[in-house]
Amino acid sequence: MDFDKIVGRVQDFPKKGILFYDLMPVFQDPVSFRALIAEMAKPYLSDSIKKVVGIEARGFILGAPIADRIGAGFVPVRKKGKLPGEVSSLSYQLEYGTDTIEVQAGAIKPGDKVLLVDDLLATGGTARAAIDLIKKQGGEVLCVSVAIELTGIGGRERVAPVPIKSILVYP
Ligand code: PRP
Repeated sequence: MDFDKIVGRVQDFPKKGILFYDLMPVFQDPVSFRALIAEMAKPYLSDSIKKVVGIEARGFILGAPIADRIGAGFVPVRKKGKLPGEVSSLSYQLEYGTDTIEVQAGAIKPGDKVLLVDDLLATGGTARAAIDLIKKQGGEVLCVSVAIELTGIGGRERVAPVPIKSILVYP
């Protein structure tokens, strides 16, 4: 399916000078949403993935149905203060300042093979932090799966040696 035709383009969002690739039109259409989930899940149907970890917020929309397809559990990685009970946290550098992500303690078991899912990879900072957080719990991230990869801003390098699988690539 030609997802590129359905993805929206919003100029100057969330800031002036940024061209935002909007996946909502893909999610809104039942045929294209199902096709995207099927394509992202396909390489892992016979892998022994125990957990799909989705990154807040659009990573949840993709991660949960992919987990269902491949027969894995779903674990959300959230921004600080959103998850109940004991959590494991990791802070990481942004362009200006820092951000903190969290996962519930015990959500990833030592030795769990994990597929990390998000809507988009840009600098790779968020995915790198999530990989490190999963590692802290003893999990092993086999791959980062995204619908959209923006190239030329170091995403792949930051996430390496974990491989990235993307459906659409934009410069
Ligand atoms: C976006 C996107 C990824 C991240 C990618 O999330 O959904 O999670 O940025 O950027 P990076 O590769 O440069 O780290 P955003 O921070 O907009 O959060 P949201 O999904 O909750 O809106």
